[in-house]
Amino acid sequence: MPVPTVLVTGSCGLIGSEVSVFFARQGFRVVGVDSNHRAVFFGPEGDTSWVLGRLQREIPGYRHEALDIRDREGVLALLEELRPNLIIHTAAQPSHDKAAAIPFLDFEVNALGTLHLLEAARRSCPESPFIHMSTNKVYGDRPNAIALCELDNRWDYADPLYQHGIPETFSIDQSKHSLFGASKVAGDVMVQEYGQYFHMPTCCLRGGCLTGPNHAGVELHGFLSYLIKCNLEGREYKVYGYKGKQVRDNIHSADVARFMFEFWKAPRVAEVYNLGGGKDNSCSILEAFGMAEEVSGRPMRWRYLEENRIGDHICYYSDLRKMKSHYPGWDITKSLPDIFQEIAGSWKARLRQEAVL
Ligand SMILES: NC(=O)c1ccc[n+]([C@@H]2O[C@H](COP(=O)([O-])OP(=O)(O)OC[C@H]3O[C@@H](n4cnc5c(N)ncnc54)[C@H](O)[C@@H]3O)[C@@H](O)[C@H]2O)c1
Repeated sequence: MPVPTVLVTGSCGLIGSEVSVFFARQGFRVVGVDSNHRAVFFGPEGDTSWVLGRLQREIPGYRHEALDIRDREGVLALLEELRPNLIIHTAAQPSHDKAAAIPFLDFEVNALGTLHLLEAARRSCPESPFIHMSTNKVYGDRPNAIALCELDNRWDYADPLYQHGIPETFSIDQSKHSLFGASKVAGDVMVQEYGQYFHMPTCCLRGGCLTGPNHAGVELHGFLSYLIKCNLEGREYKVYGYKGKQVRDNIHSADVARFMFEFWKAPRVAEVYNLGGGKDNSCSILEAFGMAEEVSGRPMRWRYLEENRIGDHICYYSDLRKMKSHYPGWDITKSLPDIFQEIAGSWKARLRQEAVL
């Protein structure tokens, strides 16, 4: 079989870079698309040029296109030329809080950019699996309506219906999403529609907290990465409401890439999966402070602000049973302690390097 080509959008981001390296190791030719918009959204701290350098060093024959996915003609032309065997779409404006300040840019990237890629795929390679990174923010703040119980350091679901977490059947309608959540709903539904309407092998992965050592964590995006960076630098971390007991489920980007590979091997049409760490890899902010302190040996400096972030989930963890039943070969391989160790190791190396420069 000829070498398959994977097109990865957002290839310099957390998920895109992990996926690019992973698929290169599986024998794919990798073409990455990234316009470094993360630096536009978040300033110099979000700059991902260092990741591009790493991809060029680590992936033999890596081809990079600094293409903006809002450029319709550019996207159509690239897909026509490449006709990739697999498309993994991770490029996005990824921040819940940032979107309200840049509503046009947010929607153009998350919704319109996704449509450009879908339509380009339909015209050039409709048989190729199209994997889209969606988000649990498509459920809006509706998970906050579930009855909760308050434990010493975290919230948890009191309703036994959610003892395994939030399933894909949970409503995405009639709740507060943030503008980011709404633009991601538009992209998510469009990806489903290209599956339903055109029978293309599309898949939406509604991510919980996706994380790993390659994240350029900033305050507005990249919860664990940013929290651990603050701990290592002795920087103050701000906690917004919910007593610091809000719960997130965390999944290592390597486990995300492994799931995409399973989907590539056995694609399905118009699928939706909640992809997070599940209950076992969930933690509250207070619990995360304790784990960061354990890894670094340094105390966490933090300040509590009464007001929660708009539409922020009080407790969210993914029900992974649908993914596991469709793809029994897949499971979480990186535990929460592994994730903390890896992120801390990566930040220490990066901060040392910055100190030398
Ligand atoms: N990280 C998380 O916790 C998380 C959680 C749920 C869902 N997701 C979703 O996963 C996907 C990837 O997230 P991430 O954490 O890797 O984000 P990221 O910001 O690290 O990566 C996104 C990449 O896309 C690039 N990009 C942005 N706009 C672009 C454009 N117009 N054209 C070309 N490239 C562009 C950015 O420069 C960046 O490198 C996103 O769709 C995000 O919504 C992430």
